[in-house]
Amino acid sequence: MSITNFPGEGASASTNPSNPKVTMPALSEMKRQGKAISALTAYDYATSRLVDEAGIDLILVGDSLAMVVMGHENTLAVTVDEMLHHTRAVRRGVRRALVVADMPFGSYHGSVSEGVTNAIRFVKEAGAEAVKIEGARVELVRALTEAEIPVVGHLGLTPQSIHQMGGYRVQGRSADAALQLQADAVALAEAGAGAIVLEGVPREVAARITAALPVPTIGIGAGPECDGQILVFHDLLGLTFAPAAKFVRRYSDLGGVIRSAVESYKVDVEKRTFPSDEESYHLPEAARRSLDATENTGRIRRV
Ligand code: KIV
Repeated sequence: MSITNFPGEGASASTNPSNPKVTMPALSEMKRQGKAISALTAYDYATSRLVDEAGIDLILVGDSLAMVVMGHENTLAVTVDEMLHHTRAVRRGVRRALVVADMPFGSYHGSVSEGVTNAIRFVKEAGAEAVKIEGARVELVRALTEAEIPVVGHLGLTPQSIHQMGGYRVQGRSADAALQLQADAVALAEAGAGAIVLEGVPREVAARITAALPVPTIGIGAGPECDGQILVFHDLLGLTFAPAAKFVRRYSDLGGVIRSAVESYKVDVEKRTFPSDEESYHLPEAARRSLDATENTGRIRRV
């Protein structure tokens, strides 16, 4: 069976009452109950399905796909149409996790109404259940909330601000900067953000923000006190080509596994040991005999 089939079931949402579909309100309930939220990025059907089946609560179709899937130097180049394409693929693979689509650079940096229009596309055309936006865009979060679109905020190291930040740098390192981050997080939550990603901020700052908010924080390089943690799929599995950041824990070396499997395949093809007889289709015995007889009598029909 191929990984592309859900055996015997057509429904896309989890129907298991003991393991219900994750929703944005459910994340806040997890925070209230002190349950850690697991989150991971995914960009295609097969991997999102594996991530969902492993029980991850939130799947982000991150604009990091610009780098880890498309090979760009930073996240700025990926377009709304490309993000929609990947969000659709992820949506098809997920039944339980909350699917969040990252709004790419430029899609919400103009007017609030343009941001809302683009966010609606992610919900309507790609099946996203929430969108994520970077920065303290309080007015936009309020407008999205009024448009019934759940929003995840993203503060601290916001990769779409790379040029303004002058590189990927830990944010909130002074008392003033930490207080500003906290004020921004509170303002986003008050405007309706259902969760806030905190990226690249000191552990102590993330802990204070987490304690101050009624909605969950999801940390990446923000220490263990956040309500949840997120990593980039390719970082977690060793599918990247640059040294990993300090906060990445690599759980596997899939890059090495893939390289060695592909090298073995190449050797087998070159030595003609692939495919074997067992990996080949065969003519039924009667057809084989008839074909042999045809050849023996020189009766080869042209088709
Ligand atoms: O694009 C992304 O992958 C992200 C996460 C790392 C939070 O924004």
